[in-house]
Amino acid sequence: MDKLVIQGGRRLSGSVTASGSKNSSLPIIAATLLTGNGTFVLNNIPDLQDIKTFTQLLNHLGAETRFAGNTMEISTSNVKNVQAPYELVKKMRASIYVLGPMLARFGTARVSLPGGCAFGPRPIDLHLMAMEKLGAKITIETGYIDATAEGGKLRGAHIDFPISSVGATGNALMAAVLAEGTTTIGNAAMEPEIETLSLFLNAMGADIRGIGTTELEIHGVDTLKATEFDNIFDRIEAGTLLAAAAITGGEVTVNGVIPEQLKSVLKKFVQAGCSVQTTGNSVTLKSPETLIPTDVTAKPYPSFPTDMQAQWIALMTRAKGTSHITDKIYHERFNHIPELNRLGAHIEIRKNQAVVHGPRSLSGTKVMSTDLRASASLVLAGLVAEGTTEVLRVYHLDRGYEKIEAKLQSLGADIRREQYKEFE
Ligand code: EPU
Repeated sequence: MDKLVIQGGRRLSGSVTASGSKNSSLPIIAATLLTGNGTFVLNNIPDLQDIKTFTQLLNHLGAETRFAGNTMEISTSNVKNVQAPYELVKKMRASIYVLGPMLARFGTARVSLPGGCAFGPRPIDLHLMAMEKLGAKITIETGYIDATAEGGKLRGAHIDFPISSVGATGNALMAAVLAEGTTTIGNAAMEPEIETLSLFLNAMGADIRGIGTTELEIHGVDTLKATEFDNIFDRIEAGTLLAAAAITGGEVTVNGVIPEQLKSVLKKFVQAGCSVQTTGNSVTLKSPETLIPTDVTAKPYPSFPTDMQAQWIALMTRAKGTSHITDKIYHERFNHIPELNRLGAHIEIRKNQAVVHGPRSLSGTKVMSTDLRASASLVLAGLVAEGTTEVLRVYHLDRGYEKIEAKLQSLGADIRREQYKEFE
């Protein structure tokens, strides 16, 4: 297994380019299942374990894929199999994204129920509700979702989501683009990843209106075709790199971003005392002498993202005073806190809120990654901890951060990857 070994105390400086977004790549790749008409060329796809896992699922279904230099070519002309087995689905919850497109194109789909998750319950009831509204008959037996469209074709409907869900909105969109008639989606997620998926679907020939808002209107079309598409940047990776600059007292420019999509996070960096400057496609952050404590609530976009919550907690361990970080999306997403406390932080958990008492001097030790963003927070803490921090089980981090140690090294961090045996 791999671990990251970090010598803390280096001030980061320089510039780095954001990678392509993982969370928009996944639904875009799933959406290629909607048509066998041509070969897709997807640019700016990050080279990540989650993308490899999802590609394996597509290959299992019969898709042909090629990946080189962050460009993925996909043809789903030969897809005949509509079964997503447990062995592949269990590796990644986002596998549920194949349900909508397979049902829309083939009129039937069989997808294993995804398993549990490291940070609490993550149900899929809203995905199923959306498919049922579009006329699918759903049964769940022996751990599988069996979905069939009556008469082989989905029908437009009104779908009103009781809570905002990125995944369910994405699945509903992919199902609705080939449905007969008009679909409206109320309380749709408006995350940039959903906006990007909508633009991609329209580039394939779909007719989605209201893109980037919470009210979407989809006019079903008969056919779609393959297209070339440029994926957006990863706003969570970019935010994490900026947090690395802020926590080390550094000054870093992240290129290749759309600053508007980072607005809620940049606002908090400013409140924390950082100086933030943006151009059309870059953000430069300069850390203050002393970080100011901030209260943050993670909520759906355009609010502060839950995927930056763990990193923000790490950052606030260095702020002078008490910060409150609340997660309104995942109430139990706090696996990083005991590990951060082992590094010397003083953080309490009160229901879905972390109370961070700072500033604390952190000191390096071995810590364990438990999920993707928790791992990122431990790396951030390691960058300022005195001595050596070893972040074990880096495979969690590798699911979502492309070449993270190379990027941090290029900014001056002392971080290297080593192999180890789990019970050494
Ligand atoms: N929810 C339901 N029922 C559903 C679906 C969701 O109750 O059928 C609830 C969830 O339990 C949660 C809330 O709705 O409380 C929002 O979840 P959402 O569906 O938006 O999450 P997701 O689509 O499963 C994506 C990202 C996550 C990110 C969340 C929230 C991908 C592949 N995953 O998950 O990313 O945290 O949106 O923004 O896009 C990560 O990258 O580390 C990650 C976990």
